[in-house]
Amino acid sequence: MSNITITDNLTLPCGATIKNRIGKSAMSENMGSKGFLSNRSFHTLYGRWADGGTGLLITGNVMVDQRALGEARNVVIEKGIKDPSLKGWAEAGKKHQTHIWVQLNHPGKQSPKFLSAVPVAPSAIPLKKPLNRVFNTPRALSDTEIMDIIERFAYAAKVCKENGFTGVQIHGAHGYLVSQFLSPTHNQRTDKWGGSIENRMRFVSEIYQAIRAEVGPEFPVSIKLNSADFQKGGFTKEDSMAVVKHLSDLGMDLIEISGGTYETPVMTGTNVKESTKVREAYFLEYCEEVRKIVKSPLMLTGGFRSSQGMNDALATGVCDMVGIARSLAINPEFSNELLSGKDAKSLVKPLSTGFLFLDRTFPLEIVWYTDQIHLLGKGQDPNIHRSPLRSVLGMVWELGINVLKKVRG
Ligand SMILES: Cc1cc2nc3c(=O)[nH]c(=O)nc-3n(C[C@H](O)[C@H](O)[C@H](O)COP(=O)(O)O)c2cc1C
Repeated sequence: MSNITITDNLTLPCGATIKNRIGKSAMSENMGSKGFLSNRSFHTLYGRWADGGTGLLITGNVMVDQRALGEARNVVIEKGIKDPSLKGWAEAGKKHQTHIWVQLNHPGKQSPKFLSAVPVAPSAIPLKKPLNRVFNTPRALSDTEIMDIIERFAYAAKVCKENGFTGVQIHGAHGYLVSQFLSPTHNQRTDKWGGSIENRMRFVSEIYQAIRAEVGPEFPVSIKLNSADFQKGGFTKEDSMAVVKHLSDLGMDLIEISGGTYETPVMTGTNVKESTKVREAYFLEYCEEVRKIVKSPLMLTGGFRSSQGMNDALATGVCDMVGIARSLAINPEFSNELLSGKDAKSLVKPLSTGFLFLDRTFPLEIVWYTDQIHLLGKGQDPNIHRSPLRSVLGMVWELGINVLKKVRG
């Protein structure tokens, strides 16, 4: 046991210090403007979160290729796109010595049909039923294309640094491209990018090294990783242990532990065991295992709801930071409440539209919390009484508009 609590600061291997142990985990804003640009709503949103006392703000995923989007309104950083609003976004998130890191991502095959006619992936393997109705079968990337994507991550990281962001995070979790390369189910290549775990982790390893070469040794570089894919033949616990060890040895500044994919969406707590609920964090047991083998600071995300749960996890030394997502979308001041020593509790509750079919068909957690983020972006307060059904209908409406736009060119 240690005396570490959420109020303590944390110095990373690169030398940067985070003022407390609370990190806002990435939540896709899906709020970009035409041309894949950020805008003033991002400044308002991140300013509000910085005022809320969180030590580290990790942005929602920013894509590295406009041809590969996870959502219609993703921000993209790539050669040829000049985004005049990035600086203001970084400034807003840096208030009160807060760190703001950009999460960089490529969705691979998890790019929906209305956005990608033929998405790319390590191998031409479709997502399983019923997701294959929403996502087209991907084609396998060529060697040259893989090298191009690695360079894209590095270029995007350089742009983030130039614009004043204080770090970057590689999205290596939740079934997106990096995670697809790691999984033997999704990566069935027979070249140097597939097969053994050493080959499957080559992609993420090269992304990290390319980023580091661009940003230098003093700039925080992090990764969000899955504990396991929770599917037979997927990225196993042993595989992920080998990956965290390797990335830690390379010098990763912060490894964030999460879990799940679109096929098994456990990241937001679906099917959580009763024993897990007592200890709050969904992936705590796995994090304990990782702690034994890596030196890099660890951030554990998913399920934290109270200062007691967070301080318990820090005191046992299982993680060095706690990651919070949904609680901050409905209460941007949650971190200040936690840090003040009050017995602050998260307002996160199970959601339902009242129709089982809709609850099962739509990613309710994503849709409803995105609406809350959009309220914050407009300078308004979150509305926890907003009807989940209304959020789903809003999504259906927006999807319809996007599909129509696509059909009409
Ligand atoms: C609306 C929404 C958007 C999300 N977008 C991302 C994302 O862009 N990148 C990511 O790594 N995780 C994303 N997540 C997952 C969260 O970072 C986090 O892992 C998950 O919500 C569990 O943490 P919590 O229990 O504190 O909410 C998203 C979650 C929500 C609710």
